[in-house]
This record gives sequence, structure tokens and C-alpha cells, in this order.
Amino acid sequence: MQNIRQLANLALIGFMGTGKTTVGRLVAEALHFDFLDTDELIQSRTGKTIADIFVQDGEPAFRELERQIVLELSTKTKTVISTGGGLPTNPDNLARLKSYALVVCLWSSPDKIWNRVKNQTHRPLLHDPDPQKKIQELLAAREPFYKQADVLVNTDVRNVREVVQQLVVQYKLATREHQ
Ligand code: S3P
Repeated sequence: MQNIRQLANLALIGFMGTGKTTVGRLVAEALHFDFLDTDELIQSRTGKTIADIFVQDGEPAFRELERQIVLELSTKTKTVISTGGGLPTNPDNLARLKSYALVVCLWSSPDKIWNRVKNQTHRPLLHDPDPQKKIQELLAAREPFYKQADVLVNTDVRNVREVVQQLVVQYKLATREHQ
């Protein structure tokens, strides 16, 4: 049986520091869609920062919050959904996202990611003695999940404006095919 897909939304997946939030907001503006960020939703719902959730409740509790949000967002339409970097490593999350959104992965090399995140402190998974090595390892482990996206956009070779344009074009093409 074929899976029925409703491409009523556009979901952005990808590693930390690939620009999901920045690009997502601009794509939402261009498509006249709403914008949602799963990390922001989790923070406003729990009243805690992501870093505090990791420290106080543990990563599994955070992943459970992500899982619930992915289920809840299935009622959305005309929304750009930016997701936390680890969210698609749960295959159920990825499958569910695909049922209601075109899933686009923003891809970057470990070096470019490191350059973008090295002066930021809010990501608990990078609170590590060797964050550069951690990025390489995590990215390698997650690559098979990220590559299951419908569309993969390399952000190393494009500026933000070009990435946004790519996404708008890809979304329009994909939804035209489904009409
Ligand atoms: C995480 C990425 C973060 C956030 C949390 C865990 C990850 O989101 O969800 O710190 O597992 O890669 P961003 O990708 O928006 O930084």
C-alpha cells in the first residue's frame, strides 16, 4: 500500500548550526506560512531551557517531548517546522513528519558547523571536552537519517538567500506534483 502524503507543511531537519531556524523563518515569510521551532515549543511548554531539560531531566525526557510534539503537529497546515538536530534520529519521528510535510535537510560539513557554533553555549550536546570531535562523530552517526529527507540542500556552497530560494522552489515543485 502506498503511503498517502499531505505536503501541507515544510519541515526542516539537519544538524545543529546548519541554519534551520534562520532559513525556516525566511521560507515561512516567502510562502506566507506560519513558523514553528520544536525547541522553542519545548522550552515554552516546560518553562525550561533545553540545556536545563538535559541536565535536570535527562536526554531521554527531551526526546520524549520531541516525539509528542511531532505527533501533535500533524494537525498543522501552511507551517514551516524547524526541528532540533536529533529529532529525525527517531525513525518514527521522520516517518510521521513525512506524512504531513515535505522534509528538507540542510546539510553542512563538520568544519562549517564548527565555525558556526563554536562561540555559542546553549547546546548541551556540545558541552564536551572536544566539541569538534563530537560534531564529527554525531554527524557521521546521523547522516543516514538526514539523508532520508525528501530534499537535501548543501548550505556550504550557498548563502542564506540562495538556500531560501532553493527551498521555496522545491516546495512549489513538490506540491505541484501532488495536485
Ligand atoms: C540537538 C539539537 C538542538 C536541540 C538540542 C539537541 C541535537 O537543536 O534540539 O540541543 O541532538 O542535535 P538545534 O539543531 O536547533 O541546535
